[in-house]
Amino acid sequence: MTEPGELRTIGVGLDDGYAFTKVALPDGRLIAIPSRARIGRANVTWLNGSERRVFEYETDDTLFAVGDIDGEPTHFDGYPFSGLNRAIVQHALHEAGLGGHSVHAVSGLPVSSFYLKDGSQRIEIIERKRNSLKQAVHPIDGRLPASVAFHEVIPEALAAWYDHIITEANGGVQLESERLSVPVAVVDIGGRTTDFVVVADQAVRHNGSGSLRCGLLDLKRQVSESIRGRFDLEEISERATEAAVRTGSVRLFGKTHDVAELVLEARHQIIERLHAETQRQLGRGAELERILFVGGGAVALASDIQDWFPNQAIAPHPAFANARGMLKYLRYVCQEPTRS
Ligand SMILES: Nc1ncnc2c1ncn2[C@@H]1O[C@H](COP(=O)(O)OP(=O)(O)OP(=O)(O)O)[C@@H](O)[C@H]1O
Ligand SMILES: [Mg+2]
Repeated sequence: MTEPGELRTIGVGLDDGYAFTKVALPDGRLIAIPSRARIGRANVTWLNGSERRVFEYETDDTLFAVGDIDGEPTHFDGYPFSGLNRAIVQHALHEAGLGGHSVHAVSGLPVSSFYLKDGSQRIEIIERKRNSLKQAVHPIDGRLPASVAFHEVIPEALAAWYDHIITEANGGVQLESERLSVPVAVVDIGGRTTDFVVVADQAVRHNGSGSLRCGLLDLKRQVSESIRGRFDLEEISERATEAAVRTGSVRLFGKTHDVAELVLEARHQIIERLHAETQRQLGRGAELERILFVGGGAVALASDIQDWFPNQAIAPHPAFANARGMLKYLRYVCQEPTRS
């Protein structure tokens, strides 16, 4: 039932990654915000007329600032269950226009957080994640919170497989039976983890499935260390590092410095690691019908990964493949309670 003053319940795919939080909405919109926040108030006063870029939220008696700030690193093990995660997700839901709404969500955990190697589910960790996002988060500026009333958790790369086998067109939904019947691998290159999942005969093959703790955030960390070493700096901001990775140059002491070589070297190292692990998991992929690359890393590293397998493909808008698959899972696969 809708409470007085409460808006409609909306279903979302919520891929709350270590680098970006992605939301897929039923009207087709895809929203992403950097997974960046920190504990405490923003301590910024917005001058008249300037647009506000930091937003504050409270959860579990702790205040978080989310938005255009140098955030705390999200890459710690407890992140998926933390207040930091809840504040970032709340902000992403607000950016998606869901303030005041009740939300039904499907999110994910890396494959190796979700399954043990023998294929059994890690119930405790899955429950922890499911319950965490259902905890209340309040914007402290009086905006209405988005409240998560139903939350299901699936393995991240498997979400992209659902996206691959369920297609929506012209208002209708279709199960792609020829895609469903063949063995497919998904490689999800993310910020902190690269996830592998092999699905054959509609079952996860645990031999070729798992997670490698390596992603684009490692590239950034390495670039940041190299720049600090080269210029003898104690610190360099996350934003300057990001710009260095993107442009190959860094602005320090009022001058632009070329660091393209440092970036290239770091990139080369990451690619080597990812390639070796991909081969270890999937071999040459001879009996797989398709190897589907997804995640932001599949965009960022597109030119380096293009010839790994003859039978590979990059998913459309790969950074959003998991979020789209999570929404499809919510709408067509799982037992979602009736929405008000
Ligand atoms: N459209 C894009 N173009 C170029 N690079 C991108 C794009 N989207 C994301 N990236 C890069 O890909 C990286 C990984 O993004 P992604 O959203 O897949 O990470 P994540 O899902 O948050 O991480 P994890 O899966 O480890 O939790 C980002 O750090 C960013 O550098
Ligand atoms: Mg991801």
